[in-house]
Amino acid sequence: MADIPVDLVPAPLRAVRTRTAEQFRLGPATALTAESGLADVESWLRAALTAATGLPLHPGTAGAADGIELRQDAALAPEAYRLTVAGRRAVITAGGPAGAFWGAQTLRQLLGPDAYRRAPLRRTGWVLPGCEIEDAPRFGWRGVLLDVSRHFMPKADVLRFLDLMAVHKLNVLHLHLTDDQGWRVEIRRYPRLTEVGSWRERSMVGFRAAERRDDRPHGGYYTQDDLREIVAYAAGRQITVVPEIDLPGHSQAAITAYPELGNTDVVDTASLGVWTDWGVSPHVLHVSDATLRFFEGVLEELLEIFPSEFVHLGGDECPKDQWRESAAAQARIKELGLADEDELQSWFIRHFDHWLADRGRRLIGWDEILEGGLAVATGPKGGAEPDGSGGGAAAGGAGPERSRSRRPARAAVSSWRGYAGGVAAARAGHDVVMCPEQHVYLDHRQAPGDDEPIPVGYVRSLADVYRFEPVPPELDAVAARHVIGTQANLWTEFMDDARDVDYRAFPRLAAFAEVAWSTLPAPAERDLADFERRMTAHYARLDALGVEYRPSGGPHPWQRRPGVVGRPVDGPVPTL
Ligand code: ACM
Repeated sequence: MADIPVDLVPAPLRAVRTRTAEQFRLGPATALTAESGLADVESWLRAALTAATGLPLHPGTAGAADGIELRQDAALAPEAYRLTVAGRRAVITAGGPAGAFWGAQTLRQLLGPDAYRRAPLRRTGWVLPGCEIEDAPRFGWRGVLLDVSRHFMPKADVLRFLDLMAVHKLNVLHLHLTDDQGWRVEIRRYPRLTEVGSWRERSMVGFRAAERRDDRPHGGYYTQDDLREIVAYAAGRQITVVPEIDLPGHSQAAITAYPELGNTDVVDTASLGVWTDWGVSPHVLHVSDATLRFFEGVLEELLEIFPSEFVHLGGDECPKDQWRESAAAQARIKELGLADEDELQSWFIRHFDHWLADRGRRLIGWDEILEGGLAVATGPKGGAEPDGSGGGAAAGGAGPERSRSRRPARAAVSSWRGYAGGVAAARAGHDVVMCPEQHVYLDHRQAPGDDEPIPVGYVRSLADVYRFEPVPPELDAVAARHVIGTQANLWTEFMDDARDVDYRAFPRLAAFAEVAWSTLPAPAERDLADFERRMTAHYARLDALGVEYRPSGGPHPWQRRPGVVGRPVDGPVPTL
């Protein structure tokens, strides 16, 4: 890494500082031009850099003697780019808009931390070092899950979060839109989902065993137009938004809004409220035809909002007790010839797997969808293995979308309970997003000791996240190719606003971004000292962006939560 000209995060594939003395000093005459297919990236870059520098970056002509230029080269992969700074020119050559956008992010990093401000502190001294950079991501799916159910994240904060993802070349926002504690997406044909389901009377403060609550209603939801705005804003940053509707567990908010969705022969679902506890609610969906039709209706509206190839339908942590007690559920098991409640869940998920495949989409679910038989859609009914194309859905971005026209529409798995589910799924030929909770659940605490606010889970320091490896070594090359990416998950029981999310997400999301983007050696050989050195420059960028990260020496006094009980797990992460 010694020849990286400045301290880039995530590290590029290759970077050389050409001549130490060579610098391109931007000025009022500097032009910004792009080939026509890159007009959106040009607009983004002009807006970002004129805001920060005050320089006009006027549209010039290709080959301008003093200019930044965006070009395409079909020989490069869509997300790959080359950036050359020489003389009074900076040229980004990319395989497509995504590569050009990531190249533009690198160029912004080269300009220094003030390039991240939204108004200029000065109009001179904007210097690009002479360099040649070649870059391309390791994984197509570089994701972050944001749980906007446990605590709602206002739209403006989501848009800001997308900007922070773009800085780190992360390209999938997995929005966890529904859970027991709140339903956050407007569904026009079922208004009670948000009228009733989008708020709760109070919240737990800290871990549930402490039984401590505030007395403050909590809620919020996104209108469909809000979500269209989020999707478009993300697309402008080469980010795909993958929505999650969690089924058939984690559904108490939906059941509260429409009690007939629950197991009415076991509990009086009309007396339920949106859950005010953390944990896993026992109130799960009744798997009737009416429930299937209800969620098809939800998904019809969802597909109109989200163009992503993948739609996440949860499938995690569905307690089966109510199905065991329910005569209706037992009759359903019998009627379908199923062995048990696990197979009932599989049947339910598989229904939506086919339903999505018929519409040109792909289901992704948590690794529990492996239990009782992994959902395997073979595409439009009556057809053989489809190629997944022609489903009418517009591609939502680069990266994870690349396979749409080539691969059969098979369910994919988010492997969260460790690596095992992902290993089994990849060996069975299913695509996998690796997000093992022991490694990349960023709600887990960042350090031992009493200062960490509401300490949860294992200690996952910046260095630990830097040493996370998404592809387990036991996978052979064929199975390893099914690991389409990796994701860090931000569950928000213990983060009640964007400041808390900043604290838990950063700086670790920078390490995660490098794991997801850069081609790093095996964990034991990773150059942590070099990463930490580059982080010094990166903290200055985060400061300019206004990110309230965890300082390396520990939380600021106002970032602590004295007296709020967490649930730390002691000892090292078990071997998985
Ligand atoms: C999960 O953490 N329940 C996916």
